[in-house]
Amino acid sequence: MKVAVVGATGMVGTVMLKVLAERNFPVTELIPVASARSAGKQLEYKGQNYTVVTLEDAVKMAPDVALFSAGGDTSLEWAPKFAEVGTTVVDNSSAWRMDPTKKLVVPEINGSVLTAEDKIIANPNCSTIQLVMALAPLHKKYKMKRLIISTYQSVSGTGVKAVQQLENEQNGITNEEMAYNYPINRNAIPHCDVFLENGYTKEEMKLVKEPKKILGDDSFAVTATAVRIPTAGGHSEAVNVEFANDFDLTEVRAILSATPGVIVQDDLDNNVYPMPMFANDKDEVFVGRIRRDESLPNTLNMWIVADNLRKGAATNTVQIAEYLVAQGLLG
Ligand SMILES: NC(=O)c1ccc[n+]([C@@H]2O[C@H](COP(=O)([O-])OP(=O)(O)OC[C@H]3O[C@@H](n4cnc5c(N)ncnc54)[C@H](OP(=O)(O)O)[C@@H]3O)[C@@H](O)[C@H]2O)c1
Repeated sequence: MKVAVVGATGMVGTVMLKVLAERNFPVTELIPVASARSAGKQLEYKGQNYTVVTLEDAVKMAPDVALFSAGGDTSLEWAPKFAEVGTTVVDNSSAWRMDPTKKLVVPEINGSVLTAEDKIIANPNCSTIQLVMALAPLHKKYKMKRLIISTYQSVSGTGVKAVQQLENEQNGITNEEMAYNYPINRNAIPHCDVFLENGYTKEEMKLVKEPKKILGDDSFAVTATAVRIPTAGGHSEAVNVEFANDFDLTEVRAILSATPGVIVQDDLDNNVYPMPMFANDKDEVFVGRIRRDESLPNTLNMWIVADNLRKGAATNTVQIAEYLVAQGLLG
């Protein structure tokens, strides 16, 4: 299969190449794509060097699949051009997620919505993916009424420049270009993505809207606060969820433990709970600090952590492509 990785030199793209290799995705021809700045650069995949090409050149090669992580504007302009030559695009940006004509997919939850006609498929936001992985099985059982989410997001979620900013600050290097408006080291910035007219950030509104589309249910309410913290990789979320029906904590743990792709880390006697350092380089979503909200009936508190570059981005994208292959939905 001819596979283009668009944004191959970036934070997500680099992990995408790693995940494709690890999972032995059936690549017969790899096409790494980036901006004109990177064209000609060599990238390694499975011990072989590949030359980075521009989007113009990649479209001419008419790949079977193009895995996009090169920002929303690139996606808006180029995904349709790939689709026109018959390529199926799986896109990591926010460009197509809320487009009613495009599917927003976490394969474990709603892979079955995909058809051979879907030529541009959206990968949800990183914070959304880890959230719905843990909530989908509980929603099915107890029915969510309201969600309150507070995120603690790593700098790798912003991209290469932000990781560089944190490293520069930690090494005392100043006068370099900054990804954020403020220093991130020894700080917490309540500003992920841009501010919208309602006073929320775009990242917060992704958490409000995307879970409803993925779960195919807009009957529950969601509110969110998204915060950037000086962690290199791995997003954490404190989640308060009110259900319509009461639950038993032992049963909640059993449901989560039985969910593929979810691991319960919840052993207070031994100080076991999810943390970004444990989630690093893992594909699973980790859930812990599972406890009853004693201030409200039928309400649960929990702490959800995942590697934002893996299940939050690259792994989920490759899983969508794997699903398309397995179901014979490509080409
Ligand atoms: N980081 C995360 O956790 C995460 C999670 C989910 C989704 N995403 C999404 O994935 C996308 C990439 O994020 P990232 O963190 O990997 O960013 P990044 O590290 O800044 O990488 C951006 C990539 O896009 C390429 N690119 C930028 N402008 C381009 C253009 N005009 N034409 C072709 N290629 C272009 C860059 O190529 P050059 O090297 O040549 O500049 C680079 O390969 C974004 O849409 C982001 O919202 C990120």
